[in-house]
Amino acid sequence: MNFGERLQDEARFLRSWLDNPRAAGAIAPSGPALAKAMATAIDLDRDGPVVELGPGTGPVTEALVAYGVDESRLVLVEFDPDFVALLRERFPRATVIRGDAYALRTTLAGELARPAAAVVSSLPLLNRPEDERVRLLADALALMQPGAPFVQFTYGLLSPVPREAGGFTAELSAPVWRNIPPARVWTYRADGSGRVPALPAWRGDLIDRVREEWREAAARVRNEWTERTDKVRDDLRRTGDRVRRDLAEHSLRMRREVRLDETLRVLRRIAEHMESSPDIHIAADRDLRRKSTGDPGRRSGERRL
Ligand SMILES: C[S@@+](CC[C@H](N)C(=O)[O-])C[C@H]1O[C@@H](n2cnc3c(N)ncnc32)[C@H](O)[C@@H]1O
Repeated sequence: MNFGERLQDEARFLRSWLDNPRAAGAIAPSGPALAKAMATAIDLDRDGPVVELGPGTGPVTEALVAYGVDESRLVLVEFDPDFVALLRERFPRATVIRGDAYALRTTLAGELARPAAAVVSSLPLLNRPEDERVRLLADALALMQPGAPFVQFTYGLLSPVPREAGGFTAELSAPVWRNIPPARVWTYRADGSGRVPALPAWRGDLIDRVREEWREAAARVRNEWTERTDKVRDDLRRTGDRVRRDLAEHSLRMRREVRLDETLRVLRRIAEHMESSPDIHIAADRDLRRKSTGDPGRRSGERRL
């Protein structure tokens, strides 16, 4: 892979991390040293499918092919659709499955012609609860040849699959210092006892209790939030109603004032008109006097009111 392609892969990876940091688990693809450490942990003398979980842009896949695994033996399980498209382009002879690696039995149902020779995982296991990690290993061991390796890298100091789960052996590599950040490779194999890895009952109960408490806390936060947003919505509605009422009253008052203005203007006009027609007053005056004295006479040119 040249420098430009590597840069492009880093950009793709960063985008995937920004979309879903919990699933991506890292902001950059694994470096060649870590990919090689993962690939060389498998047993080359075993035949059969080699399953890779979370191949991303394919650095570990590339290392597996370089180590000597024929591409047609590879079964790649990836969740991110963009990575799936890229893997199909880069490894056309491999089987690329878009699916959930944590539901391994369902995802691989009907895909393996025979038990797998190895499972190589770059899944960010530490982002998942312990019981899910144990179940993943148990499911993988059930799909593999007896004693075949489940290879997993981690940035942590402890085994990502708790060893108390039993039923498997665990081997730890030296730190791969040339990777950023430095990582280690764990190799798990069925221990031959026939025991399926499972968390001790008390630990399972503890996890269930913690999960239940989390669920309750989340529900509490959600209820509080709903109550608060309801209250804010009610306050806003009440304020809106008040403003609407004030506006209506104000506009009524304005309308009344305009009507009063209009009336005053008409009265003023009448008064002006009366002032400019004094003969109306004279005629009215005469009419009054005539009524009181009984004189019926009227001068020509005078208007009757
Ligand atoms: C830490 S990255 C490793 C990528 C690559 N193997 C590398 O070493 O650079 C984890 C990968 O696991 C994939 N992944 C996360 N959850 C998954 C799931 N439930 N099923 C399948 N793939 C998953 C992510 O999309 C991502 O490609």
